[in-house]
Amino acid sequence: MRNLGSNIKLVINDLSVSYNDEGKTGDPVLIFIHGFPFNKSMWNKQTEALKENYRVIAYDVRGHGNSDAGTEDFSIDLFAEDLLNLMDALKIDKAMLCGLSMGGYIALNAVENYPDRFDALILSDTTCTADTPEAKEKRMKTIESIRKDGVEKFADESVKNLFAPESFSTKKLEIAAVKEMIVNTTEESLFKTLRAFYERKETCSKLPDIYVPVLIMVGNEDKITPLTAAQFMNEKIKDSLLSIIEHAGHLSNIENPSEFNNQLEEFVSTIYYYG
Ligand code: MLT
Repeated sequence: MRNLGSNIKLVINDLSVSYNDEGKTGDPVLIFIHGFPFNKSMWNKQTEALKENYRVIAYDVRGHGNSDAGTEDFSIDLFAEDLLNLMDALKIDKAMLCGLSMGGYIALNAVENYPDRFDALILSDTTCTADTPEAKEKRMKTIESIRKDGVEKFADESVKNLFAPESFSTKKLEIAAVKEMIVNTTEESLFKTLRAFYERKETCSKLPDIYVPVLIMVGNEDKITPLTAAQFMNEKIKDSLLSIIEHAGHLSNIENPSEFNNQLEEFVSTIYYYG
């Protein structure tokens, strides 16, 4: 029996996972994976727009939102296994995946390791590269400064880089909601995820092997995973589409939801039609 609605709890391998499951049973399945350190609520506007024609699932990655952290060290491999465990528990054989930033790292890992389980991929504001030595050093400095100055300060600093300049006057409520998501993430989960990013492997060399349809989206003012990262993936993934979202920084789905949703809906409707 399917549980429908939001904030559903499911215990999988002793880990309590929180997810939203909307839309009709039997419709094509679209799974959303959020960025770091946010939670599934960042996909609310996409869920509203798509649930009419799709079964839409958004879940909290381990250690984020209302999902437990468990006891293991985090890794992108572990996050991808969690996704597959959730799909198995919900008896979802195949799905379309949409991941933003960290969600994109998880989606690329999942498509590489479990290619038969996915129909299509939407990569938003993300990259296939591993952390450079400078980025690794920054991860460690971030851990130190959270230890020293706390999560509130980390949230304030993060928000400055996440959004396009114009969003600070046009998207005040959304920015406050994102800050809230950050401060509600435990220090332990922040540290474990930052270490997982530090350790993560590149997926660029595997991009030519992706054979499902791919849409790449990026905010035109994304400073964290910029247009060049999106263009690189676009060149490497055969027949992939690239869409640049105007009036948006790193959180393009929140900063310009109407454009993001238009692009997403147009793309998934072709998968559904031909799929
Ligand atoms: C995210 O939005 O998930 C993060 O910016 C990812 C990262 O820090 O690499």
